[in-house]
Amino acid sequence: SLASPSHGNDFLRCLSTDVPSQLVQTPSSPSFKQLLVSSIRNARFVAPATASPPICIVTPTNASHVQAAVRCGRRHGVRVRVRSGGHDCEGLSYRSGSPGSEAFAVIDLAKLHAVRVNPHEATAWVDAGAGIGELYYHVATAAPGLGFPAGVCPTIGVGGHFSGGGMGLMMRKYGLSADNVLDATMVDAQGNLLADKKAMGDDLFWAIRGGGGGNFGIVLSWKVRLVPVPPTVTFVKVARTMEQGAVDSVTKWQTLAPALPDDLSVRVVVQNGEANFQALYLGNSSAVVTTMGSRFPELGVTIADCKEMSWLQYTAYIFFGDAINSKPLEALLLNRSMPLGRFVKNKSDYVKKPLTKETWEKIFLWPNGTATGQLVLEPHGGIMGRITADDIPFPHRSSVLYNIQYVEFWNGTAPGGDVTPKWVGSLYDFMAPFVSKNPRGAYVNYRDLDLGTNKVVDGVTSYESAKAWGESYFGPENFRRLAEIKRKVDAGDYFQSEQSMPPLPLKQ
Ligand code: FDA
Repeated sequence: SLASPSHGNDFLRCLSTDVPSQLVQTPSSPSFKQLLVSSIRNARFVAPATASPPICIVTPTNASHVQAAVRCGRRHGVRVRVRSGGHDCEGLSYRSGSPGSEAFAVIDLAKLHAVRVNPHEATAWVDAGAGIGELYYHVATAAPGLGFPAGVCPTIGVGGHFSGGGMGLMMRKYGLSADNVLDATMVDAQGNLLADKKAMGDDLFWAIRGGGGGNFGIVLSWKVRLVPVPPTVTFVKVARTMEQGAVDSVTKWQTLAPALPDDLSVRVVVQNGEANFQALYLGNSSAVVTTMGSRFPELGVTIADCKEMSWLQYTAYIFFGDAINSKPLEALLLNRSMPLGRFVKNKSDYVKKPLTKETWEKIFLWPNGTATGQLVLEPHGGIMGRITADDIPFPHRSSVLYNIQYVEFWNGTAPGGDVTPKWVGSLYDFMAPFVSKNPRGAYVNYRDLDLGTNKVVDGVTSYESAKAWGESYFGPENFRRLAEIKRKVDAGDYFQSEQSMPPLPLKQ
């Protein structure tokens, strides 16, 4: 049977025949702890991960090491969790949600991070362990005039990010990262190497582009379509307090932002009673000032709010802010040297009908105690509204105005932090009537275990138990299709976690 701690030694012995010993670290290795926490981005998971650590962390340098880990894991009853950038919002890539009860190993793909750009074809192959900052840097330097649509934080791994979608400020123009995946290589649940989408078949290739990480196999690399970006883009930043009309502006923004030209994306970060509007315009500042002046005069955007830069500079600027002026752009490449962040809890929603001004007033003033509550509002519309809901597993398309990410941060030295966070849960409950329902939508890349966790019956995840979170992330139809594909490619449910895709039972 799987998941018995006594199988660890047999597993390690099996690994040692195919994987060089320096690529396998066990808890007794001197640098194990450092490696385990190297890409943990959330203080919530540091203590639990080190208290009930994995049997080992494998750091493959080629596909055969990944295949060996899966084959040995199956043979000796040890599950694997795969980690690329380690940004999973519930830490599922390196910790078990039921600490102590499950023996598992981590396959950490950090060493597989090559980016091979083909400027003539406008494509690139990017290995799963690369950060999106590395992808941006190598694309822009090898192929000026080309870019790629993905998220905002450069250390996010492409392995998990593309597996769940990948939203950023070029999404209204070019879609999600997953919409731009052309091919992939992966290791399946039997430990076979699938060299391309032909070897995967249409269903599996559909499932891995947005159907969530850790479900169907281990993606080793993605082939992506690069997209044209102009030599100069403009970043716009405008902050408004409540006294300066922030509530009115956000109320208007809800229907305005999704209807703007595709070249212009305006997102909002709401924190401490203030709205920060951040826009990317794929063109120069005078054009964006004109567009914003006619479409959103209330915001009063002037040239002084705009910064012209290259697309690559923008990818660094939106994350580092003005600090990037004193750093080289190679800062985008520093993958594993970030300090450990604060305690964080994320949740998400999709909005289909604009909220009233009165509702926004309440949200702005929602009490957060000594923690910090942040809302990130990402506009949809543009191409996001023109791609069908079943094109890839990500279903949140034509009817969506915008995505809300709720982020609560807190500090402390106690295991869970020094405060009990209340902002995110209570605000999420309050929001229920105003956001998408039946099912209430959520974004799989903002993984949230409060939506539900799996029940396992006779070693296999129950489909019924997984509906609670699965239909929120994927919608009922896509979720069912994903479960059907899971049955085809991993009927024994080897890739199993608290929120892994269940195989559809045969009688359904
Ligand atoms: P990690 O390695 O933790 O993996 C995430 C999940 O995918 C796990 O289930 C893991 O097992 C699985 N997985 C990882 N590698 C895999 C592989 N090679 N094959 C198969 N499965 C694999 N999102 C967004 O859309 N836009 C944004 O701007 C941001 N910004 C952001 C900032 C910060 C600070 C955080 C913490 C998160 C985000 N996100 C985001 C969310 C992010 O997209 C999401 O957490 C991704 O899944 C992270 O991918 P990683 O590879 O880093 O995570």
